[in-house]
Amino acid sequence: MQPVALPERAATPSEAASEPAAGAEPAPDPAGQLEKIWETPKTLWGELTTVDHKKIGVRYLVTAFVFLVVGGVEALVMRLQLAGPNLRTVSPDAFAQPFTMHGMTMIFWCAAPILSGFSNYLVPLLIGSRDRAFPRLNAFTYRILGRFGVPRVDAQGR
Ligand code: HEM
Repeated sequence: MQPVALPERAATPSEAASEPAAGAEPAPDPAGQLEKIWETPKTLWGELTTVDHKKIGVRYLVTAFVFLVVGGVEALVMRLQLAGPNLRTVSPDAFAQPFTMHGMTMIFWCAAPILSGFSNYLVPLLIGSRDRAFPRLNAFTYRILGRFGVPRVDAQGR
């Protein structure tokens, strides 16, 4: 059986009113413009300077994991010293340093970034917003974590 060609439907009055007249400027698309302004360019520089809450959230979680390992190594030094009574595995000073560093690493560079990671990733999705309230400030905050976390571990024992 031959398919029946239906006559083209005439535009409803509201559709006709919303269509731009021939030769007129296309209607502005604020949502599309916003997307364009804030999207991450697919370049290395784009990745380094991204303000995308999902990317920053994942980076927080990866960073937290790295510092979990660092804090674990610091705990290991303590455990080696405390494996038996009166061991002389490390000097009192060399024990005190990983002890202090372990507490700080675990709380400020592991536990707190885990919360930041999940909240960065999930909250904008849950509340239906495009990104965090201050995306650039949010990206800057993540940078501070690494900026002070790495030299802090590196300074141990000096
Ligand atoms: C999320 C936070 C933390 C995690 C996941 C964590 C994890 C660990 C782990 C796995 C050990 C090794 C345990 C063992 O070898 O028996 C350890 C030991 C230790 N942690 Fe933490 N820790 C955290 C926070 C802290 C804080 C805030 C402090 C205090 C400032 C602290 C002080 C110590 C001490 C003194 C030891 C040595 C105890 C021992 O080995 O007998 N930890 N920690």
